[in-house]
Amino acid sequence: MARVANKVALITGGASGLGKATAELLAAEGAKVVVADRNLDGARKVAEAIGRNAIAVNLDVTNEQQWIAALDVTETAFGKLNVMVHSAGVGVLKNIEDISVEEWHFVHNVNLHGPFLGIKHGLPRMKKHAPGSIIIISSVSGIIAGHNMSAYNTSKAGARMLAKTTALHCAKRKYDIRCNSVHPTFIDTPMVQSMIYAGGDPADRRAKLEAQVPLGRLGEPIDVANCILYLASDESKFVTGTEFVLDGGITAQ
Ligand SMILES: NC(=O)c1ccc[n+]([C@@H]2O[C@H](COP(=O)([O-])OP(=O)(O)OC[C@H]3O[C@@H](n4cnc5c(N)ncnc54)[C@H](O)[C@@H]3O)[C@@H](O)[C@H]2O)c1
Repeated sequence: MARVANKVALITGGASGLGKATAELLAAEGAKVVVADRNLDGARKVAEAIGRNAIAVNLDVTNEQQWIAALDVTETAFGKLNVMVHSAGVGVLKNIEDISVEEWHFVHNVNLHGPFLGIKHGLPRMKKHAPGSIIIISSVSGIIAGHNMSAYNTSKAGARMLAKTTALHCAKRKYDIRCNSVHPTFIDTPMVQSMIYAGGDPADRRAKLEAQVPLGRLGEPIDVANCILYLASDESKFVTGTEFVLDGGITAQ
């Protein structure tokens, strides 16, 4: 039996990296998936490769009207929404003195305001077809800080709390909708590749990232997608308001 059979999942940031791996895995396990991204061409490529159980939608997660339209398209195409995965995210590697006000707002808009808009407008629709599951990809940076990750740290810490308050809201009202956050460290996606190729010898830069991880390697997108599959499925029906840390041991130190 497929692990998310008969479920409809919308994945933001589905054109790349963790969102793409999640869309592919949920579809392979029986879900119908909506690959949502501001990069529509990329989302279309992912959806076409999956086949008839996937569609692509244009969604800038900071845009409230685009959220409403994407949710409408989801219900029109597949009749309901059961799972939302918030993977769209951006990073600006700047400390608290150097970051501009525009950069600060940009990071918070995508990483925190985006999931807020999705939950605000998605929850009323998910309630009609419970059980449901919301998964926010935060980061290990939502738990531990870095000197040059000011807005990324605070936006991801906010996303962690957004998951918890959503979980408690839904539990109190007996919606049977769960909400959890996922906290990866460096995973080998285009986001981390852009850090590796930002200057200097890429092999050295990769080795420096790997050296920060007790397991001694970067994670793979499937490592995160497997955790999200569990949270999306009814196997995790007693799991809500918690955080899954996928960090190769970093926070154990
Ligand atoms: N890769 C890692 O090491 C890592 C670690 C911890 C957390 N994360 C988080 O995981 C999530 C996915 O990261 P990734 O590594 O797959 O990155 P990625 O850059 O490969 O993919 C991010 C996707 O989000 C989309 N996106 C960005 N802004 C958007 C917006 N406003 N609206 C809609 N789509 C938007 C991009 O077009 C892209 O397709 C992010 O939230 C990131 O912060 C990543």
